[in-house]
Amino acid sequence: MDRRQWFKSSGAVLAGLACSSQITAASADGPAPATVRSGPVRLSLNENPLGPSAAAIQAMQEKAAEVCRYALTDSRTFLTMLAEKEGVPPEQILVGSGSGEVLEAYGASLGSAGGDVVTAWPSYRQLVGAMERQGSTVVEVPLNARKELDLDAMAAAITPTTQCVYICNPNNPTGTTVAPEKLRNFVIEVSQRVPVFVDEAYLECADDFANQTMGGLVAAGHNVTVSRTFSKIYGMAGQRIGYAIAPAGLAKSVRPLITGGTNLLALVGAQASLADAAYVETMRLKIKAGRDALIAVLDELGCAYAEPQGNFVFLRSSVPIAEFRPAMRAEGVLVGRAFPPYDDWCRISIGTPEEMTVAHAALREVKAKFA
Ligand SMILES: Cc1ncc(COP(=O)(O)O)c(C=O)c1O
Repeated sequence: MDRRQWFKSSGAVLAGLACSSQITAASADGPAPATVRSGPVRLSLNENPLGPSAAAIQAMQEKAAEVCRYALTDSRTFLTMLAEKEGVPPEQILVGSGSGEVLEAYGASLGSAGGDVVTAWPSYRQLVGAMERQGSTVVEVPLNARKELDLDAMAAAITPTTQCVYICNPNNPTGTTVAPEKLRNFVIEVSQRVPVFVDEAYLECADDFANQTMGGLVAAGHNVTVSRTFSKIYGMAGQRIGYAIAPAGLAKSVRPLITGGTNLLALVGAQASLADAAYVETMRLKIKAGRDALIAVLDELGCAYAEPQGNFVFLRSSVPIAEFRPAMRAEGVLVGRAFPPYDDWCRISIGTPEEMTVAHAALREVKAKFA
């Protein structure tokens, strides 16, 4: 069977799974989950098709008939749960329709003062983009040679007009993290001058979350905001729920800009996920196994990559991404967009083992094509 025939047959298996409408969720010891999508394997958006937790699916199913009600009680329960988890009062928590809504609201609030915002480049752009739309100038500090945030250069880029420093850790799209002690010192020092925002959307996927999270600095009263999402390790991207913990004054000024209110099923799914004690560690290990298997293929192909800690890998395609991407698509795999200035690099998300088998084969095929 040649590569194309093989892809077609594996595509048929995936499509068959999709059509069966059997949604198998990830559970602590359960079987590998089945994909629920047909068509090409989507590894372009850093979703987590290994999730959500079986407990979250069950909780959402059980609550489905109650969507006629506003989610008042569940909102309060969720806030209490988050406050306990993060060690801050509920007033310091901002819940949004995905953490993206919180980034938007925070950016809209701080950007209205104009000035500038310091960020790494390339990095996730939602918060700084929101500030830019309000009139702030975005100061983009290049990554270092290992494609990590250059904290010294970022500190040096702060001026008297800087309104905020945005840190994405692990960084999207490179997946790299910064040394925890270095980041902690940076946040403590810099936050005395300007508010710092640490986006930890992918941090639960990384080794040693407890040592790496900056959440404790919010609880300790520093001028730092930390955001988290249920879209990544919790596998609930479509449900749109995330949050940030922020200094009380900042939370108060940002909250009115969060306009929607969280939907009931997202709230109960997120609550059940948090209550599923084994879930995060089990999922972290599955994602790490997916990363390690992908890295093994990259090593075999002699392909460079940035040290990954999220649910994705940033690898050197060696040919322009504008050519590499359609070639991967032709092999049945959607990969990330261009992230200039790294125009011959490519971001691939970690999918299910079945999806990754298709991705590994596509990489071998495409690399051979461009050799
Ligand atoms: C670093 C980072 N932060 C925040 C988000 C927003 O995610 P969501 O709105 O689904 O929580 C994303 C989405 O990909 C992201 O990569």
